[in-house]
Amino acid sequence: MTESPIKKRILSGMRPTGRLHLGNLHGALSNWQDLQHTYECYFFIADWHALTTEYKEPRTIHTYILDLVVDWISVGLDPEIATFFVQSAVPEHAELHLILSMITPLAWLERNPTYKEQQLELESKEIATYGFLGYPVLQAADIMMYKAHAVPVGIDQAPHVELTREIARRFNFLYGDFFPVPELLLTEIPKLAGLDGRKMSKSYDNSIFLADTVEDIRQKLSRMVTDPQRARRKDPGDPDVCVLFPFHKLYSDPEMIAEINRECRVAGLGCVDCKKRLTERVLSALEPVQAKRQYLTAHLEEVREILEAGNRKARTFAQETMAGVRQAIGF
Ligand code: TRP
Repeated sequence: MTESPIKKRILSGMRPTGRLHLGNLHGALSNWQDLQHTYECYFFIADWHALTTEYKEPRTIHTYILDLVVDWISVGLDPEIATFFVQSAVPEHAELHLILSMITPLAWLERNPTYKEQQLELESKEIATYGFLGYPVLQAADIMMYKAHAVPVGIDQAPHVELTREIARRFNFLYGDFFPVPELLLTEIPKLAGLDGRKMSKSYDNSIFLADTVEDIRQKLSRMVTDPQRARRKDPGDPDVCVLFPFHKLYSDPEMIAEINRECRVAGLGCVDCKKRLTERVLSALEPVQAKRQYLTAHLEEVREILEAGNRKARTFAQETMAGVRQAIGF
C-alpha cells in the first residue's frame, strides 16, 4: 500500500480593516493560492488583532469579515482544500495567548521593530496599550495553535514570525518538546503603486479594489499618474520609472510588454493609449473574479456556511492543542 505523503501545514491571516485591493491580490493572495495545493492551509481573519488598533470603532471590523472571505474565494482560494476561519470564533487563541504571555520576556516585545514603527506611524491612534504591545504574542498563539510548520507572510511580518520561533522554543524548553518551530516563508510582494504613485494602500485612498466596478476601474486607471518626467506626448518616457509599467508586467502578454518598453522610450506610444491597453487587460483578468464576487455577494449564506465549517474545524484542532498545552504545564 502506498501511503499518501503528509502535507506540511501553513497558517496565515489578515486583519479585517478594509477591502482587498490589487496590491493584496498580487502579494499575499496569489501566493496563498499557489500554496494551497502544496500545503495543508489554514487562512484566518484576525479580528482580535484588528481590535488592537480599531478598538474605538469595533463595529467596522465586523463588516469586513464576510467581505474578506468573499474576496478570498473570488480570487481562487478554495474552501474545499483550505480552511478559512475567524480568530474570535476560536476562543482557544485567547487562552494560548494568555499562557504565552507568561513566558514572553517584556524585552522581546519592546524591541519589536513593528511596535516601535507603528507607535510613530499611527500617531492619531492611542495604541500605547497592553494589548498592542502583546500583538505578536497573540500572533504567536495563532501560529502555534495549529502547530504550523511555516508561515507565509511579507517582509513586514518577519519580526513577528521570528518572535514566534523564540516563544515556541522557550515553551519547549520550559515544558518539554511540544510545538514545532515554524519557518518563515517569505512572500515576494511586487511593488505596486497606487493611483497617485505612492504604494497602493487603503490608508492612502489610492487603491483599486477587487470590489470596484468596471466603470470605477476604468476611471481610476485613466487618472493614474505615469512617468512623472514625461510631461508632453512627444517627450520620450521611461518605463523603468513609470508607475504604470509594473501593471503591464503583471497583466499584459510578453509581446505587448516588449512593445511598450520600446515605444514608450521613443515617444511612439503615449500614456493615454498605454493606459487604455492596460485597462482592457486588467478588466479581462478581473472578469472572472468579479463574476464570482457578484455570485457570492448575492449568496452570502453560502459564504457564512463556509466560514462556519472552517470555524468548527479550526476549533477542533485548537481544542486538541490546548489539551496538550494544559497537560504540558500540568494544569
Ligand atoms: N499581523 C498580520 C498582519 O497584519 C496578521 C496576522 C495575525 C497573522 N496573526 C497572524 C499573519 C498569524 C500570519 C500568521 O498582516
